[in-house]
Amino acid sequence: MVRRFRLISLLSVSSLALFFLASLGKSTEPFSVWDEIYKSAWAGIYTDGQAVRGESFYRARCATCHGMSLEGSEDAPPLSGRDFVFDWNCANIADLFEKIQFTMPANRPGGLNEQQVAEVLSYILKVNRFPAGTNALSQNVDDLRGLMFLAVNPHP
Ligand code: HEC
Repeated sequence: MVRRFRLISLLSVSSLALFFLASLGKSTEPFSVWDEIYKSAWAGIYTDGQAVRGESFYRARCATCHGMSLEGSEDAPPLSGRDFVFDWNCANIADLFEKIQFTMPANRPGGLNEQQVAEVLSYILKVNRFPAGTNALSQNVDDLRGLMFLAVNPHP
């Protein structure tokens, strides 16, 4: 009886602790609990090949507004650098994918197929110094919901 009581209180203490950690994770330190649930964009989530194809696509279809080096222009915000990565900090990669898929290019939204979106997104990740890996970035947006865009590498 005593033992069982201990077990129960131990369980509730640990779930409380987890809850506490999780709420802490949201406000001050987003990397403790969350990086076990989500995989971050620092884990090598696209291939070099995708980024190379994405680069030529970017130059043809995005650079007029967002600039040759993603620096932005009078017509469009930058897609690289501090402001960009902190704007998207803790967002889901799927959100960024859909932002491009449904609203870009701004003068002809919805004109890109999934492969083009995945490749141009890979290129944007590369320019922002997220490393390439061996697995391709999925063209299926539902596969991307567990991937988190983090401005700062949680495991440098
Ligand atoms: C005609 C100009 C134009 C073109 C071409 C264009 N964009 Fe944009 N883009 C914009 C504008 C304006 C915004 C800001 C308004 C908005 O977020 O919808 C924007 C916003 C974005 C954002 C969100 C930036 C942020 O910080 O939230 C992304 C990502 C993006 N564009 C990607 C692309 C990609 C990829 C292409 C090429 C396939 C592209 N854009 C082509 C004008 C353009």
